[in-house]
Amino acid sequence: MIKVAVNGYGTIGKRVADAVSCQPDMEIIGVSKTKPGAEAYVAKERGYPLYIADIGKKDAFIKAGLEVAGSVEEMIQKADIVVDATPGGVGEGNKALYEKYQKKAIWEGGEEHELAGFSFNSSCNYDQAIGRQFARVVSCNTTGLCRIIKLIDSVFGVKKVRATMVRRGGDPGDIKRGPIDAIVLNPVTIPSHHGPDVQSVLPHISIVTSAMIVPTTLMHMHFINMELKNPATKEQVIELIKAHSRLGLIEKSTGITSTAELKEFTSDLLRPRGDLWENGIFADSLSVLDGTDLYLFQAIHQEADVVVETVDCIRAMAGDVKTAMESISITNKAVGLTAIR
Ligand SMILES: NC(=O)c1ccc[n+]([C@@H]2O[C@H](COP(=O)([O-])OP(=O)(O)OC[C@H]3O[C@@H](n4cnc5c(N)ncnc54)[C@H](OP(=O)(O)O)[C@@H]3O)[C@@H](O)[C@H]2O)c1
Repeated sequence: MIKVAVNGYGTIGKRVADAVSCQPDMEIIGVSKTKPGAEAYVAKERGYPLYIADIGKKDAFIKAGLEVAGSVEEMIQKADIVVDATPGGVGEGNKALYEKYQKKAIWEGGEEHELAGFSFNSSCNYDQAIGRQFARVVSCNTTGLCRIIKLIDSVFGVKKVRATMVRRGGDPGDIKRGPIDAIVLNPVTIPSHHGPDVQSVLPHISIVTSAMIVPTTLMHMHFINMELKNPATKEQVIELIKAHSRLGLIEKSTGITSTAELKEFTSDLLRPRGDLWENGIFADSLSVLDGTDLYLFQAIHQEADVVVETVDCIRAMAGDVKTAMESISITNKAVGLTAIR
């Protein structure tokens, strides 16, 4: 069993912990918090040993009825692999600890590519992660872009990608972020950083991205245009998407034309936390004009898509499962990812 520690039990960390704990080849040996709170109670409820960043705060946890298994440093020593899901920018400071104990570590998309020196996406470069000490699972938006671009590029060739991200203002539980009533150009300059981030996984792809933030918490929405090297038909692209387990197809017959209806759908399907781990590609939006000009809308559930990727990244770095297809299949089966259509 691969012993996994989750350093930072928040939006992503709590999902990674649950996804890891249901894998046949992995176990959670601990999760960490800085302060007692609702998520710490959930960790206790789940039976995950709780470690804390600053052991001087142990009394506050004990007073709150939360048992403390030890410090983050102690947790790291017990793990084979640490998933660092601390807030963006915080994870960088933990690298010295992972190096000190010669542990494998995975950071999430809030950290820079250079920190790990390798950016991961299951559908694109699983084999390059095998046996590595450090990796970064790219952000939710980049994950969603990489999955669809890689598929289309491998079959038709992609000459150029243009994509606009309509991004959620904050996660549903995040009361501090906005906007409340604005469309914020983020950044106002074009291109946004998302294109270069895609190139950290798919360096040969020519891509220009732009992004804005809107007052919603549920999901992001991407508008993507790909100029293809070879002609395609809508039907061909739909069949390819149907065959890719991390690309969900939102069929016209569902009547779903929004992130709100999509989130309701995944909740009704009894997905944990209503999570959509795959891209939500709107079948009816998919158009191929003049044979080589592909357009589509896709919804990206920011809290969920990187979770299954992180599980695959753990497996690749541990080294026993050699192909992406095999790992993706194990991960999907364990979490209950079956086609949403
Ligand atoms: N949220 C998203 O939509 C999303 C999507 C994709 C990728 N990501 C990336 O995933 C990473 C985590 O983001 P998140 O949204 O999950 O953050 P989050 O919800 O703020 O959770 C971060 C967790 O880390 C804990 N923490 C803070 N400082 C710590 C420290 N020094 N040591 C140990 N734990 C610490 C916090 O615990 P306390 O509350 O106790 O301080 C909190 O539980 C970031 O790189 C982010 O960019 C986020």
